Amino acid sequence: MQTITVTHPAGSYPIFLGDGALAQTGARLAELGRRGRCAVVTNPTVGQHHAEPLLAGLTEAGFEAGRINIPDGEQHKTLDTVADLYDLFVEAKLDRHSTIIALGGGVLGDTAGFAAATFLRGLPLVQIPTTLLSMVDASVGGKTGVDLPQGKNLVGAFKQPEMVVIDPAVLATLPEAEYRAGMGEVIKHGVIDAPDLFAELEQGGGQKLSAEQLARSVGVKVKVVQEDPFEHGRRAVLNLGHTFAHAFERLANFQMRHGEAVGTGLVCAARLAARLGLCAGDTTERITALVAQTGLPIEPPGFPAEDIWAAMFTDKKRQGNTIRFILPRAIGDVAIFDNIRKEDVLAVLKEKL
Ligand SMILES: NC(=O)c1ccc[n+]([C@@H]2O[C@H](COP(=O)([O-])OP(=O)(O)OC[C@H]3O[C@@H](n4cnc5c(N)ncnc54)[C@H](O)[C@@H]3O)[C@@H](O)[C@H]2O)c1
Repeated sequence: MQTITVTHPAGSYPIFLGDGALAQTGARLAELGRRGRCAVVTNPTVGQHHAEPLLAGLTEAGFEAGRINIPDGEQHKTLDTVADLYDLFVEAKLDRHSTIIALGGGVLGDTAGFAAATFLRGLPLVQIPTTLLSMVDASVGGKTGVDLPQGKNLVGAFKQPEMVVIDPAVLATLPEAEYRAGMGEVIKHGVIDAPDLFAELEQGGGQKLSAEQLARSVGVKVKVVQEDPFEHGRRAVLNLGHTFAHAFERLANFQMRHGEAVGTGLVCAARLAARLGLCAGDTTERITALVAQTGLPIEPPGFPAEDIWAAMFTDKKRQGNTIRFILPRAIGDVAIFDNIRKEDVLAVLKEKL
């Protein structure tokens, strides 16, 4: 079992990572001095496989633990679901000493995390991510929130967890397509700050990640959010590939997996960097080949390039009239570039591989 410590402005928290970590959550929480009631928030898809060992471990450690279900799917990442959670928290008689445990993918963690951040002005939260994407990305960094009809993630709060529990064994039940989507973010982390991990993935021929590789990918996110906990600067590098990805997802009415859009977005960012003469040697070819080897799409979806450009301007991360791009200079070295010209972006989108 590995422990990674994450520091933030108000303190620090551990990430426990290893097979069997799920069942040990109760014992770990007790060690942190927590006691009383725990509400395990999950959905039926995840709960049917993984709620029982968690609840058993919590009970054994002396907690009064109960399970709360919310429906599965991004369409339920809403204020309505949060309001339902408040009702269920009242019904479960949670008080200020109770703990909310979010067991699920990024959608579940964001929604339950936001409810935990706001109910009774904030209850202690444990994140137990169960998708690859939420393990390496969503569960670390303290961002929680829900969507509005006008756009994704428009309401939210920073809520640092008491701890994060990553049990790679839970990935055994994750559908293959979801695993692949998570690999989009793992490759992204390799390009940002883990060139050795990137090289291992190239040589791995599509093999599943080891717990140690998973930990290194999490480590990239940890390092970046520690440097910039409130997203004022360096944290923007985590958006590598995302300016393209968000535009693709929006035009596809979010009927596209985020990680798949990120995979294609990484390839587009690499091609843009090559076009602008910003990146070294075979960086673009290596990123393209690894995304393809992972089974993620490398060609931008067939929307008109002008529409993709326009969709980039509705992104909440825009700055005035320029679009910010994070671009790779080498594997393990990315930088922020403002004022990228429209004609270069359109050229990349129209280029056929
Ligand atoms: N807070 C952040 O910093 C942050 C960062 C990145 C993404 N996100 C958010 O994360 C969400 C996407 O998360 P996601 O990709 O994990 O998707 P998801 O939460 O929708 O999970 C995908 C599917 O897999 C199921 N599932 C989860 N774990 C499983 C398991 N172990 N076995 C079987 N099925 C399982 C889920 O119930 C769901 O049906 C988006 O809403 C995005 O905005 C948040």
